Amino acid sequence: MKPLKFPHRSHGDRLPSYNHYRTLARLISKHAWLYTEMITAETIVHQKDNLDRFLAYSPEQHPIVLQIGGSNLESLAKATELANEYHYDEINFNCGCPSSKVAGHGCFGVRLMLDPMFVGEAMSVIAANTDVPVTVKCRIGVDDHDSYNELCDFIYKVSSLSPTRHFIIHSRKALLNGISPAENRSIPPLKYEYFYGLLRDFPDLRFTINGGITCIGEVNAAIRAGAHGVMVGRAAYNNPWQTLGHVDSTIYGKPSSSLTRRQILGKYQVYGDSVLGKYGQKPNVRDVVKPLLHLFYSEPGNGLWKRKADTAFRHCTTIKSFFEETLRAIPDSVLDSPVGETPVGRDELFADINSLLPPPYEVREQELLYA
Ligand SMILES: Cc1cc2nc3c(=O)[nH]c(=O)nc-3n(C[C@H](O)[C@H](O)[C@H](O)COP(=O)(O)O)c2cc1C
Repeated sequence: MKPLKFPHRSHGDRLPSYNHYRTLARLISKHAWLYTEMITAETIVHQKDNLDRFLAYSPEQHPIVLQIGGSNLESLAKATELANEYHYDEINFNCGCPSSKVAGHGCFGVRLMLDPMFVGEAMSVIAANTDVPVTVKCRIGVDDHDSYNELCDFIYKVSSLSPTRHFIIHSRKALLNGISPAENRSIPPLKYEYFYGLLRDFPDLRFTINGGITCIGEVNAAIRAGAHGVMVGRAAYNNPWQTLGHVDSTIYGKPSSSLTRRQILGKYQVYGDSVLGKYGQKPNVRDVVKPLLHLFYSEPGNGLWKRKADTAFRHCTTIKSFFEETLRAIPDSVLDSPVGETPVGRDELFADINSLLPPPYEVREQELLYA
């Protein structure tokens, strides 16, 4: 497929992740924006003497976004300030996590969508303590608060009350009662029409679409339909080679790294052996190898490799010895081949989106003034 170029390319492809995975992701794509997993403001504040463990990353990981969560303005301010010395490229505030630990006890994550005035205040506090852009990741609603108008009220209030100009929208609502975080990523239906409604109704803001995008062909389709950016979660984790291997050329119009998986594993081995045991028992070989376990998704030898890995985890003490023991399961043709054809995916995913858009949002100035 011919490489395509799009406006706002710097936000073409995004994914939340932890450090070892991001190291792998960056070896496959030099340009995708990488997100950390959510770190609570309280954790950052309480661990202020131990911050490298939570916030350090290698310089190759730029562009990289720190995602924080919380509901205490003082902690959010302090955490943002403490994070400054790590030079993240953007600070993202989590308003989408449905976990009961987060949305229940902590009363943050997606529950904050019910309190846009607070989110506006929180974003102002975060922005006041950093020089980099601040963004919000949210759902399209919570429980019965799931109308398009309520979503627009949230976006309108947060963007009016704070310098937030960019929202990442996981395009399904969250259900707070009874279902698990994993079910909350599949049971509530995706409503991409809400996402594209936002693009129409808030032309001065930027929106990144998230949820259910499974390959680079679908990333392209979302951008063609007008999305400023696309965040890919599970597909990038479960099939990193195919999903990320096309990002640099197809989305950013830049040359791919052209590394084979054998070469990627060689570089990863150097990284892995240098971080083993950095924090006492952690990380161990299993922790460091974990993101690699999907690198040969649906390839010959994949099943055998995983079985060998299970055995090797019991006694290998270095990544080098782990590879020596297990990689024979993967044929050379797989290890040495370049990334294949660009997967097309569901090209028609957004084809009818304009006919499905909700009625336009009518701004409720009065409500904002008196809320
Ligand atoms: C294991 C796992 C952990 C996740 N952790 C976070 C997180 O820390 N912060 C966040 O905003 N989203 C997190 N997500 C949600 C994803 O960012 C994304 O919104 C969701 O999976 C839908 O996108 P997808 O269909 O492309 O996976 C997580 C998802 C999974 C599967």
